[in-house]
Amino acid sequence: MEPNYPLHLPDFYIGDPAPAYRDLRHSSPVHWTSANGGFWGITRYEDIKFIGARPHLFSSANGVLMPDGKPRTVDSRPMLITTDPPRHKAMRQLISKGFTPKHINAMEPDVRAIVRDVLDAAPAGIELEYAEGYVAKVPVRIIADLLGAPAEDWEQFRAWSDASVGSADPDVKLSSQEAFGALTTYFRQLIDLREQDRTNDLISILMDAEVDGESLSHDELMSFLHLLLVAGNETTRNLIALGTIALINHPEQLRMLVHDPSLIPAAVEEMLRYVSPVTHMTRWATEDVELRGETIKKGQAVVLLYGAANRDEDVFGDTAERFDITRRPNPHLAFGTGEHACLGLSLARLEARVFFEELLARFDRIELTGEVLRMRSTMVPGVRTMHVRLGSAN
Ligand code: HEM
Repeated sequence: MEPNYPLHLPDFYIGDPAPAYRDLRHSSPVHWTSANGGFWGITRYEDIKFIGARPHLFSSANGVLMPDGKPRTVDSRPMLITTDPPRHKAMRQLISKGFTPKHINAMEPDVRAIVRDVLDAAPAGIELEYAEGYVAKVPVRIIADLLGAPAEDWEQFRAWSDASVGSADPDVKLSSQEAFGALTTYFRQLIDLREQDRTNDLISILMDAEVDGESLSHDELMSFLHLLLVAGNETTRNLIALGTIALINHPEQLRMLVHDPSLIPAAVEEMLRYVSPVTHMTRWATEDVELRGETIKKGQAVVLLYGAANRDEDVFGDTAERFDITRRPNPHLAFGTGEHACLGLSLARLEARVFFEELLARFDRIELTGEVLRMRSTMVPGVRTMHVRLGSAN
């Protein structure tokens, strides 16, 4: 009998999806779910690589969110993540100019200063709320810094950013449209300032970026700034929060990391694989395609379950289900694959590495003291709140 898993519900991802992923990879790797108007769930590593490499057959233009059963309203704004070739390539080349290794490496002192500022406020020995209170402050401040927003605007920026993606504190009274509007006005002001006076921040770089005589249109720049908040915030927060939980659940690995911080970059890779902060992205077939004996019909949605690929035994062997911070090689798909693969991956890696370096230099014990409250999302089912006690390393 065909397995039947609720791939369209947040609870599926918030619980432990690993056993279902294993079953699907083996018994139904191209799996039809009829909920929400129907979609194919893809769980094998090799198949996700195949689809990711063929954007002409599997388009992003209808959006990358899983179908929700409502008619698709295609976003008319020119957003990098939902643009297909050939425009995608040109747009990505332009935007990449702000994300070169040189630019990202140069951010390390700023990233460290932000992380220190956040963690210096964390007391040892008493219970504290870690996800909202500490982890969440880091990525949003770093994006604000990347955009050249002054530090005094960071709290306001965070409130708009959280509200615009619908993850705001229930006490925040701003609707997502209002927050989106406020951010648009704020970005416009930053752009106007840079019109007068270029600096070396991302907005200045993107305004000057030119490839083959082409540059980004005003709309493209504006929607990219909005995309940064969606793409770079919850994702990194989720990696750090769920990565911390993985360490708490594997105390011997936490001890190893405290004793040998040079393992932190490999540990971050393993957190990315094990946690898969972005569970999936969606593509839309542009013609009928045969895959493993199934026919994916033109127009149907294909959901690439990166979290399932990241546990594939064909790639990660018989330790695929194990959290192992010394794993090498670790060719996970947490950042996606193909031409839409994460543009911010160096920044995400830098943030997570610096965060754990600073955290473990201060605290050598981390324990959960209460329930972990998760975000009700199928795509980034992160941690809303988690209470921990940190034990001082000194
Ligand atoms: C795309 C994951 C952090 C910017 C993606 C995609 C994934 C992903 C899976 C692929 C989209 C697709 O398949 O359609 C993650 C994870 C992160 C992270 C797990 C953190 C742990 C960031 C950060 C930034 C960023 C910090 C920027 C500051 C982007 C952008 C795209 C993207 C712009 C679209 C690229 C394109 O369509 O060409 N990310 N991301 N991400 N990410 Fe990230």
